[in-house]
Amino acid sequence: METKIKVVVAGATGKTGKEVGRAVMRAGDMELAGALGHSHAGMALGDLWGDPGLPVIVSRNLADITAPYAVLVDFTEPESAYGRMMEAIARRWDIVVGTTGFSGRQYEEIAEMVRRYQVGAVIIANFSLGAWIMERLALEASRYLNRAEVLEAHPDTKKDRPSGTARRMAGLLADSWQRDVSTVPVHSVRLPGMVAHQAVIFGASGQTLTLRHDVHDRSAYSAGVLAAVRRVREFGGTVVQDMGDIITPE
Ligand SMILES: NC(=O)c1ccc[n+]([C@@H]2O[C@H](COP(=O)([O-])OP(=O)(O)OC[C@H]3O[C@@H](n4cnc5c(N)ncnc54)[C@H](OP(=O)(O)O)[C@@H]3O)[C@@H](O)[C@H]2O)c1
Repeated sequence: METKIKVVVAGATGKTGKEVGRAVMRAGDMELAGALGHSHAGMALGDLWGDPGLPVIVSRNLADITAPYAVLVDFTEPESAYGRMMEAIARRWDIVVGTTGFSGRQYEEIAEMVRRYQVGAVIIANFSLGAWIMERLALEASRYLNRAEVLEAHPDTKKDRPSGTARRMAGLLADSWQRDVSTVPVHSVRLPGMVAHQAVIFGASGQTLTLRHDVHDRSAYSAGVLAAVRRVREFGGTVVQDMGDIITPE
């Protein structure tokens, strides 16, 4: 019998972590080995998820999880996530991170740790397939159109602005045009009722082209995260930041 991949979900009590954690539970080849949270630490995850049979208590610290190896999946906030990622890597765990808002310097330090410990890391600003396809289409358009602005909209509870997805899109376009990223404006909307929305508007004489992606519910991220969990061990020593490296076309 094949051993199941042990997965610890940090942020399992949050909007995205809950969705991803439940997908891990449903995956036949994975086992939810632990859950981390902050204000809900000490509570039964089953009570929070409406699944009373689930024998997982929300822990506050990674050190509370005794499993010798697991994949850390993190959907929390950047400040605590940075330390947790470093801790997981030092335990030689592979990491799959959706949390956004890290500084460039933090990315460099994480990449250095990943190299030193030869673990696998997938750190992707948007695990939805549609967002990745949008990047491919935007890059194709950027070969012909050389002006664009990025619009993104999220709930007013989102901590970082602009979103990691929009920052990445602006960076990809700027690289394609060999210009500084500041030449690609990003506009952020924060309103109740939003989930995750992004548009890229290209403008040229007499015409515009708009690419748009909407996440209506957070199940959009689950398939990408599960694919990353399955493949992350293959990437020992490197940080994967592009969904194209982990997905297989249908
Ligand atoms: N890459 C992607 O595809 C993707 C998709 C969606 C969201 N995200 C990112 O994922 C992150 C979470 O977003 P969300 O909307 O799910 O947020 P959320 O609903 O506010 O959930 C935040 C989670 O983080 C936990 N948390 C907060 N502070 C913590 C700490 N100090 N230590 C441990 N856990 C802590 C919370 O635990 P308690 O509930 O116990 O306090 C909660 O479980 C954000 O950075 C967001 O940008 C990425």
